[in-house]
Amino acid sequence: MKIIHSIEELRAWRATVGTVAFVPTMGNLHAGHMTLIDAARKEAEHIVVSIFVNRLQFGQGEDFEVYPRTLEQDAALIAAQGGVDVIFAPDEKVLYPKVIQQYQVEPPAIQDELCGAFRPGHFRGVATVVTKLFNIVQPNVACFGKKDYQQLFVIKSMVEDLNQPVKIVSVDTGRAADGLALSSRNGYLSAAHKLEATRIYHHLSRMKAAIEAGERDYERLSAETTGDLLARGWVSVDYVEMRNALTLKPAAVTDHQLVILIAARLGHTRLIDNIEISL
Ligand code: PAJ
Repeated sequence: MKIIHSIEELRAWRATVGTVAFVPTMGNLHAGHMTLIDAARKEAEHIVVSIFVNRLQFGQGEDFEVYPRTLEQDAALIAAQGGVDVIFAPDEKVLYPKVIQQYQVEPPAIQDELCGAFRPGHFRGVATVVTKLFNIVQPNVACFGKKDYQQLFVIKSMVEDLNQPVKIVSVDTGRAADGLALSSRNGYLSAAHKLEATRIYHHLSRMKAAIEAGERDYERLSAETTGDLLARGWVSVDYVEMRNALTLKPAAVTDHQLVILIAARLGHTRLIDNIEISL
């Protein structure tokens, strides 16, 4: 396994190999990322994992400065997992040599909804860096997690709309035994908050069961969840929303494919999760 820092070296390697499956990450890898690598293995002859904490997708006052940078530990985890040919870990000046990225990829209105309403510019930053990484790595396939459902939706629609020649593979959310969705940001949580954080999956499961049993008053379900989290001392609940899983439009009572999405803040940590429902 090679660790490559420069675009030139990555391109030189790419020119010598066949099909490539790509797993873009911001590092501080956990078992959720490893399921993406497992999925990638089924898709192509070679695997590239990128590790890059992308300033462009962090807002003012977000955690860019303190986001954990653990390249050595990540490389050891990837090596142990096996099957990865290249870790692409560029410095900021490699991807953003002019400091300010001049041309950016502007997603449509979905970028201002759900997480986008609370993180202005976030999805523009994601779409831009993923496009740059696609142009550098030139993968045949790229794997993204459903944990970041809206991000996955933006990437899928971007690839379609811009005719980017990459097949997007969606990977199920990796969870701890207690249901908590694995996330690099869980590392910010105290032991007590880590336990409390499972309340999100508890409510997702509760709402899913209610909807499967015929409940269609989505506003009531959502208000119950918000009320409970706030009563338990969560700092804020950004949203609890039922959406059409395929279009991400607000769920209609006639929809068969739904996704419930939650974002909420526990202490200083913003957590997101979601659950799909097929009716
Ligand atoms: P990061 O948060 O490091 O996530 C990298 C990939 O791992 C994403 O596709 C994400 O959805 C997936 N992932 C994270 N936690 C997961 C879990 N518990 N189960 C399954 N997949 C999980 O998402 C980003 O980085 C960045 O926005 C990026 C796409 C790399 C662009 O900078």
